[in-house]
Amino acid sequence: MRDVFIPGVNIGLVGHVDHGKTTLVSALTGTWTDRHSEEIKRGISIRLGYADATFYRCEKCKGNDAYTTSAECPNCGGKAVPLRTVSFVDAPGHETLMATMLSGSALMDGAMLVIAANESCPQPQTKEHLMALELIGINRIVIVQNKIDVVTQAEALEHYKQIKRFIKGTIAENAPIIPVSAQKGVNIGALIQALDEVIPEPERNPDLDPLLLIARSFDINRPGCNWRDVKGGVIGGSLIRGVLREGDEIEIRPGRQLQVENRTKWEPITTKITSINAGMISVTEATPGGLLGIATKLDPALTKSDALAGQVAGLVGRLPPVRERLKFDVTLMDRVVGADSEQIIEPLKHKEPLMLAVGTAVTVGVITNTRKNQVEVQLKRAVCAEAGARIAISRQVGGRWRLIGMGVLVE
Ligand code: GTP
Repeated sequence: MRDVFIPGVNIGLVGHVDHGKTTLVSALTGTWTDRHSEEIKRGISIRLGYADATFYRCEKCKGNDAYTTSAECPNCGGKAVPLRTVSFVDAPGHETLMATMLSGSALMDGAMLVIAANESCPQPQTKEHLMALELIGINRIVIVQNKIDVVTQAEALEHYKQIKRFIKGTIAENAPIIPVSAQKGVNIGALIQALDEVIPEPERNPDLDPLLLIARSFDINRPGCNWRDVKGGVIGGSLIRGVLREGDEIEIRPGRQLQVENRTKWEPITTKITSINAGMISVTEATPGGLLGIATKLDPALTKSDALAGQVAGLVGRLPPVRERLKFDVTLMDRVVGADSEQIIEPLKHKEPLMLAVGTAVTVGVITNTRKNQVEVQLKRAVCAEAGARIAISRQVGGRWRLIGMGVLVE
């Protein structure tokens, strides 16, 4: 039996391709997050998936055994009381999908780094994703040592030591390491207990102007449906502050791209919220934490196929500025991680193309100015971001975008 509550925190799943992130979400929630046909065909997560789970604690059982995702304790059959509901953001592990992983990490209050026990640690994206968490500032981390059903106890112990060596000196140095089998549902109680201890609900200030980071957008109408039944566009994402209510007039920025006399212009989109889903529940008011589905009066053609992913929404006239140029202070890492050969990272160069992740937006631009530790970048696609925002910086290395450092927007 499952109760439904409003989620209050977003927990990300990151890690190398095929290490079991989607299987783990399924073990925790009963939902398989690879929903797109191409994802299922190729067997890898391409877009961000999300699903919710409520954590319970059995009133009679002790230790790990007391933690479950069901109102009836699977151990003793007794009553378990709900602790809280969380949203999981399942990021793809394939190296070509780093941009999606970075955009997803903007929504995470904490993360599980999933590491398969049947491969030596670290694999390239195990390293790159941990680096991304570090750069973006996500320090509430639980390490999941997955697939323990396919290794011996001695191999699992050796692998545990490899993980310990790998996390030494990183943001995850003191993170708990929980051995599980996502596929067989082994030790999931211990994982829930660790998540409960390490990733609490962050403090929120409901009085600030609302800011919703859009991660997905949808057209929920069936092909060929009657025009009278057409439903407005839906945006999905997370409120990072403030409150949004049913009936609010909202603005989405940067909005629509227009071509005016050979120049690209961005025109904010305004619309009205017609309904809000927080997790599985329809609510009239949404607060930060958890993932929201917000139905609007927008033409669904505007929201189809994630067209608004990377944009932000808030009350009309209360959003940060739209920027076609970004000026930011840069901190570069020493070496490129995530590739087989770990080259030294050279300083940024004038006219160099960069891929920048700001909130859920991922955009490409060219450096127009470099000064000591500060650069200016002219963007291909504008972003809506406020001063102080963190920017994950990637550059082309060996034909791929590789994470090389972090920026902080200065003005
Ligand atoms: P991407 O999202 O594409 O990065 O992959 P993922 O990390 O989500 O991996 P996924 O959950 O798709 O699992 C990859 C494969 O590993 C699948 O064939 C799973 O059935 C298998 N797998 C996942 N967890 C376990 C486990 O605990 N034990 C075993 N034996 N196999 C597992």
